[in-house]
Order: sequence, then C-alpha cells, then structure tokens
Amino acid sequence: MKRVGLVGWRGMVGSVLMQRMSEENDFALIEPVFFTTSNVGGKGPDIGVDVPPLKDASSIDKLKALDIIISCQGGDYTNDVFPRLRAAGWNGYWIDAASALRMKDDAIIILDPVNLDVIKRGLAAGVKNYIGGNCTVSLMLMALGGLFKADEIEWMTSMTYQAASGAGAQNMRELLNQMGEVHRVAKSLLEDPASAILDIDREVAGILRDESFPTDNFSVPLAGSLIPWIDKDLGNGQSKEEWKGEAETNKILGRSGKPVPVDGLCVRVGAMRCHSQALTIKLKRDIPLDEIEGMLAVHNDWAKVVPNQRDATLRELTPVKVTGTLSVPVGRLRKLSMGNQYLSAFTVGDQLLWGAAEPLRRMLRVLLN
Ligand code: HSE
Repeated sequence: MKRVGLVGWRGMVGSVLMQRMSEENDFALIEPVFFTTSNVGGKGPDIGVDVPPLKDASSIDKLKALDIIISCQGGDYTNDVFPRLRAAGWNGYWIDAASALRMKDDAIIILDPVNLDVIKRGLAAGVKNYIGGNCTVSLMLMALGGLFKADEIEWMTSMTYQAASGAGAQNMRELLNQMGEVHRVAKSLLEDPASAILDIDREVAGILRDESFPTDNFSVPLAGSLIPWIDKDLGNGQSKEEWKGEAETNKILGRSGKPVPVDGLCVRVGAMRCHSQALTIKLKRDIPLDEIEGMLAVHNDWAKVVPNQRDATLRELTPVKVTGTLSVPVGRLRKLSMGNQYLSAFTVGDQLLWGAAEPLRRMLRVLLN
C-alpha cells in the first residue's frame, strides 16, 4: 500500500477532503500518515482504522518516507517545505490545494473530469507535482467542459459572484456577524408593521458605515453590499483572480500555447460556499441551442443543464440548492441579441468541493490505479 501523508487536514479545505475521502472509502486503499504543524505526537483523526501519532509537518526526514503527500496547509507551507523536500532527493507525488506551484512548468493543474488526458500525459512524462486549480476556474470548466472539449469557444467573459468561503473560514464567520449586526439595528423597526421602510434603511446604512461594524477580515462590509475586487491588484487594472481565468483555464486544458481568451470581473457576494458565474461565450460557429445543451450534459457526471425557465432556474440554479453537493448546474443558456454565436450561461458550484478538495482525492485515485 502506498504511504500517503496528509498535511493541513484540520483546516477548512482539509476537513472537506477528509470527509470526502471517508465517504468514498479512500482510506482503505492507502496507508495514511497524518502530519501537524502544532501537535506533534498527538492523536490522529478518527477514520475507522488505526493511525500512527501525528508527525511533524516540517520534518523533511519524516516527509521523505512517503510515496505521496497531499497538502491543504496553504501556500506559505508549500513555499517553505516543498523545495527543501525535493532538494533532499524526495521523488514522490506532491498533491497540493495551494496555488504556490500551480503555474510552474513541472506542475499540472488537476481537474480529471476535464483534463485526464493532460494528467495522464504528465504521469507518462514523469511529472510529480499535481496542483488543485483556482476554484472559480475549476467550477467554470466543470460546467462548460463540453464546449471546451469540442473546441467551440472563441472567447469568453466570466462575471463572478464568489462566496465568502473563498476568502477563508474567518471570512465566513465575519459575514454572519455582519448579517447579525444589520438585523440587530433594524429589529425593533422590523417588528413594527407600521414602521417606514426608509427609517429601516437609514438604520441599516448607518451600521454598515459605522466604524464598529465587523470588517477585520474583509476590510469592508460584505453583508448588504458586495466587493468588486478579489485577491491582489496586478497594477494593470486586473485583479489576480481575474488573471487566473485565462492563465489557469488554458493550462488545465493543456493549451497555453494557443490560449482561449477568458477575462471578466471577479466579485465577492454574501453567499457562504458556492461560487456563481455569469458567462458570455463567443462561439466559433452558430451551434443550435439543443446541441449545446447536449454537449454540456454528457461531458461529465456532475454538470447538469437547467432549462432556461424561471421556475427551474429559481429551484435549481442557486447557491442554496448546490451547497454541500458535487452537482454543477449550468443554466440561463440562450443566444444573446448580439448574434447567434453569442451564448449566455450561468453556473453555480460548491467551491470547497469541486473548487478545492474533490480534485485532490480524485488525483490520489488516479495515482492508485
Ligand atoms: N481565490 C478564490 C476566492 C478562492 O477568493 O474565492 C479559491 O480559489
């Protein structure tokens, strides 16, 4: 059995990974070794089989004994430990949720329902580093895989509605604290059916702008508002999250030499863990809508075409419907008034599942096969 080290299994992405590995019985196929940055010698997690005490995640000697390492510990850990481990001669497979190694030439971005061919070519060529993609990009590709596979997309814009979880667990808590504060100041007026809505609104705007409002993590209010900038400012008007759209999409597809242009605006909204995206797609030719729906529906087991009707959309195409599931619905499919080669789409996906944990455990399965 392969000895598989797990680092960062206690964090948010790591916890989702552990849950999915248990559900899919992955632990029965490996010899798991759990690492820690803070509790060396402590008890490992309860996964139904005995596991050795927690090992030191900074010990190159301990890590070197593994065949495969899966890290959800974050980019700082990767930047610190990974180069030293390779320098020490370790030649195992490194599977990582962090973005640190993603764009390196000796790394493949993993999303096997979309790029199993790229992964297999990498394995055959001796590539050892397999890195999870940006959540927004991965979810978009799960939804539109059929059109990309058929190479029918000339260019695409993605306007995103990204959940608090993408910013971290503390940000999710802060969003809820913000919501609580907004309700608190409006509560007594809300309970009085005769109160004026503009009085309620004044109270809400007041607390949102008050310096006591909890914004340590987001730096500005998200509840009752939105944040039209995600990640670093690249200095050219584009955010780093927006830059990833084109760079990672094409790397995942193995076509960085002949990239499909993908660009748009990334926006944080007050959803918990599902990222949504409104897409405008310029097709290479006028494809009938029913053919497009067919291509998307058969591409993978999780993409699900939602009829472009009001009731079905409200029922099936929301973060509330999708949260905690692997389903990636795609709907609002219609030809835009700009012409028959212009297609709109809207998609929703859980950013902790297909956007983070699921591709990692599936890569482990690819290695074990
Ligand atoms: N960068 C993403 C976000 C998270 O902020 O929503 C994970 O890729």
